[in-house]
Amino acid sequence: MTPGIFLADTFPLLKYVPDWFPGAGWKRKAKEWRTIPRQGVALPHEYAKQQMQAGTAIPSFTSMYLEQENMTTEDKKTFSSGLPTHSWAPVPTRKFLHDKKAYKDPFEFRPERFLPSENHEPERDPRYFAFGFGRRICPGLLLADSSLFITFAMVLLVFNISKAVENGVPITPKQEFVDGIVQYAQLLV
Ligand code: HEM
Repeated sequence: MTPGIFLADTFPLLKYVPDWFPGAGWKRKAKEWRTIPRQGVALPHEYAKQQMQAGTAIPSFTSMYLEQENMTTEDKKTFSSGLPTHSWAPVPTRKFLHDKKAYKDPFEFRPERFLPSENHEPERDPRYFAFGFGRRICPGLLLADSSLFITFAMVLLVFNISKAVENGVPITPKQEFVDGIVQYAQLLV
């Protein structure tokens, strides 16, 4: 599942192509896939509603929003950006994270670029971009950041990490990534 790989992402008119149309396999896939995230939303939502009706709901975001009546339907139709609901607004995050104006040799792996030192101002914090923006910013930011910090701290504490050496020659792993929403290095597959 990679955003933007289906032609219909760019040409929404294609959604009117009938399911049986030759080459419309993507449409059948989309129908099947859309049920998965919808269940992820609908099941906990229904559960919270039932608990509220039974008077046994523990306060949560869902119960809070269900109780709150002051948002009109019209308000819900547009975001503060003025974009209509269902607009597709890709943000070139990768470009921001490799901006030559903000990062010296942006494609080099040099984590020390983020550390302040006597002659060096830390380069721009990638957290401003890597987790999205505004009201759709990743709610897992703090959890992800702390989990990764503690994981790396523990790994670095107990392991020495270096390149594998074969016949006296250090092997530099190829930087190849798998495709998809979550990308990871081929080496780790
Ligand atoms: C390094 C780890 C992570 C990165 C880089 C990351 C990045 C992102 C990005 C870029 C978005 C899209 C924001 C947008 O639509 O503009 C997002 C959304 C989201 N993330 Fe994360 N995320 C990470 C970890 C997590 C974790 C650990 C959780 C949950 C425990 C989480 C939950 C979510 C949710 C629920 C959304 C959807 C928010 C919404 O559309 O309103 N993420 N994340």
